[in-house]
Amino acid sequence: MDISGHGAIVAGGASGLGAATAAALAAAGGKVALLDVNMEAANETAEAIGGVAIECDVTDPDGANMAIDAAIDAVGESRVLVNCAGVGPAERILGREGPQPLDHYARCINVNVVGSFNMLRLVSHRMTQLETLDSDGERGVIVNTSSVAAYDGQVGQAAYSSSKGAIAGLTLPAARELARFGIRVVAIAPGVFETPMLRGLPQPAQESLEKATPFPSRLGTPEEYANFVMCILGNKMLNGEVVRLDGALRLAHG
Ligand SMILES: NC(=O)c1ccc[n+]([C@@H]2O[C@H](COP(=O)([O-])OP(=O)(O)OC[C@H]3O[C@@H](n4cnc5c(N)ncnc54)[C@H](O)[C@@H]3O)[C@@H](O)[C@H]2O)c1
Repeated sequence: MDISGHGAIVAGGASGLGAATAAALAAAGGKVALLDVNMEAANETAEAIGGVAIECDVTDPDGANMAIDAAIDAVGESRVLVNCAGVGPAERILGREGPQPLDHYARCINVNVVGSFNMLRLVSHRMTQLETLDSDGERGVIVNTSSVAAYDGQVGQAAYSSSKGAIAGLTLPAARELARFGIRVVAIAPGVFETPMLRGLPQPAQESLEKATPFPSRLGTPEEYANFVMCILGNKMLNGEVVRLDGALRLAHG
């Protein structure tokens, strides 16, 4: 799909992978709405790329619905949704204080899984109303963000890995169901990328993740993630798949 002249929604677009994706979509001529809870960062990113910032908690059914309406008013009907809103808490199942509080686990699932699904269901419904773009009948593309932690989850990542495994599991049934509307669903499973979420880890942990990445032996850049989103848009045969983008990283026991 050529995004030029079309609307695009990036959930979690204020920062990190989402911000770089919003910038790439805008550079390709897309009209981009950044939906995020962090309005200060969202406004800053939107201003830098000529996009529009809209306050949205992806877990809120009514609030997200209104935010999507506001996005469409601002940038036009959206052909692309990229789900980058997420949280990455690290906590053991059995910590020093006892079992992991259930609400900590539930919050991670709520933001990462329920939030992504909420956006997918609301945006895909609107996409079904759009004209097809070509002889294949394509209407839109949805990119979700899983993680290599879906497969190689480390100690302390029980909640996060569960949430990213659920995003991986969502990919094929969603792609199959939305196929009749010409909407593709693809997930990216990033390795370690240099974003505020990753920079929250202690320096030694960051360095060991860099060393564990066979090639290139460094953190990925948000622009490399964004570049892959653009590849997905450009290649219609890519559908219903979770693609690792990780420099051959396989996370160790941890
Ligand atoms: N950085 C990495 O190495 C890496 C690796 C694998 C997967 N991921 C995934 O990529 C996605 C983006 O991560 P990032 O590294 O860019 O992190 P980030 O913290 O830079 O960006 C996440 C954005 O999501 C927003 N957000 C959080 N909760 C929200 C909510 N309820 N509603 C709306 N917005 C919300 C934040 O305000 C922030 O702008 C996440 O899903 C993360 O799990 C990141």
